Amino acid sequence: MQSFLDELADIVGASHVLTDPGVVAGYVTDWTGHWQGHTTAVVRPADTGQVSAVLALCSRAGVAVVPQGGNTGLVGGSIPMDGEVVLSTTRLSVIEHVDPIGRTIAAGAGVTIARARDAAREHGVEFGVDLASRESATLGGIVATNAGGIRVIKNGDTRSQLLGIEAVLSDGRVLTRWKELTKDNVGYGLPGLLAGSEGTLAVITRVLMRLVLPPSATRVAFVAVGSVGDALMVVDRLERAGLTLDAAELMTRSGIDLVCQHQQLRRPLSADAPFCVLVEVSGREDAETTLLEVLDDSHEFVLDAVVEEGPAHRLWQYRESHTESVGAASSTPPVKLDISTPLRDIEAFLNELTTGLDRRFPGVRAICFGHVADGNIHVNLLDAAPDQRDTLSDFVFHLVTDHNGSISAEHGVGRAKAPWMTLGRSAVDLDVMRSIRAALDPAGILNPHILPARRP
Ligand code: FAD
Ligand code: MLT
Ligand code: ZN
Repeated sequence: MQSFLDELADIVGASHVLTDPGVVAGYVTDWTGHWQGHTTAVVRPADTGQVSAVLALCSRAGVAVVPQGGNTGLVGGSIPMDGEVVLSTTRLSVIEHVDPIGRTIAAGAGVTIARARDAAREHGVEFGVDLASRESATLGGIVATNAGGIRVIKNGDTRSQLLGIEAVLSDGRVLTRWKELTKDNVGYGLPGLLAGSEGTLAVITRVLMRLVLPPSATRVAFVAVGSVGDALMVVDRLERAGLTLDAAELMTRSGIDLVCQHQQLRRPLSADAPFCVLVEVSGREDAETTLLEVLDDSHEFVLDAVVEEGPAHRLWQYRESHTESVGAASSTPPVKLDISTPLRDIEAFLNELTTGLDRRFPGVRAICFGHVADGNIHVNLLDAAPDQRDTLSDFVFHLVTDHNGSISAEHGVGRAKAPWMTLGRSAVDLDVMRSIRAALDPAGILNPHILPARRP
């Protein structure tokens, strides 16, 4: 092992091969605290050439590798649970260009969303993907997980923002698709294939992504409603009134109470409604008047509402503090399940979830919130005993399957959901995925234990 570590040090420099337990601690534990692994070494290459040399060495040595960006993933995919080498992309941090006319950004995989956003804003354009983990999550990470977030309703998911990619295959070869073209149908869409591959097909080193125009006349409303159906009606009416819907986020009374307690905030509205929806709209100078008119005309759905101008950080705080507050309030690491259903099924799914949890899992608290217009609900289960985690996941995943939904809407499969992949994909589908893995990573070293496990 020492000679392997020496060879890694020859490639990246000794100070970028980390083995000290105190130093690697932050790389081997996930954001929720549930996944706690161990590693042979954390290696931090500075450029594509070094990534290539590291992977070629690991392939030859048969050493498994876990690529890691900001380590904000919520499904255990970035954690070396079996001693794998962690390939950290944090030094791939160059922003190469922002083109405000072509509306593209080219950057290293280790650049964070916040840095990409700030660079875009300097040129009067906007980065189209946004998540509450923006200060740490990297471009490589959001592509590898095909992250969703709060702007999917407006801009689509990360895959739809991806124009080009540079990625290193497990044998060290560099795959480059890098054209600033909207239309380019020569063969398979490999950038799209790598989006959502969760570090199992290649290590992404550089990305070329679309940018969008910044919204104008932004207004945010926090709206109390009696049901999920009513929240969706409000969203529908806003869009029909000609407003651009920039975000639509559902919260429950218990989630807001938890956030208020944890963040020491006052409740945002006086009505004691079971659900709230935060909507952000933009588009025209009369956006505020239109928004107020729609809310006024929707009195059969709207129990109470408050409207703010501009980015409205105050109102967003209630939504964006959910993840942290849930983590802090649970006596054990929360079971974080990220599901989607057709819009018409959300209400029934949530009702059956509540009934089933009360009946089968007394003492487990559920806090549900999410990107409601995408049909995406984050089911967070608090205070679950360690031996309840799998049965809870199994219960929720079967319920969501009964409602024609997905067991992973945006966080990916990772380790957390791998045992349930057969609920979402057929045997043939899984077989095709395994064949693709085998073709791109014949040595089987890239994140071998996640997604559909490799053929034995
Ligand atoms: P990591 O966590 O480091 O890695 C995630 C996966 O991608 C792993 O499987 C890893 O092996 C792989 N990977 C990372 N970098 C590369 C690379 N360069 N090449 C190949 N594989 C790679 N997710 C959403 O989708 N929507 C949300 O709204 C959202 N909100 C969040 C809010 C909070 C507060 C937190 C903590 C997380 C949230 N997430 C959300 C989850 C997470 O931020 C995303 O999954 C994000 O895309 C992970 O990026 P990362 O750089 O941290 O990747
Ligand atoms: C969110 O939308 O806030 C997230 O995806 C994170 C979470 O599920 O906690
Ligand atoms: Zn989310």
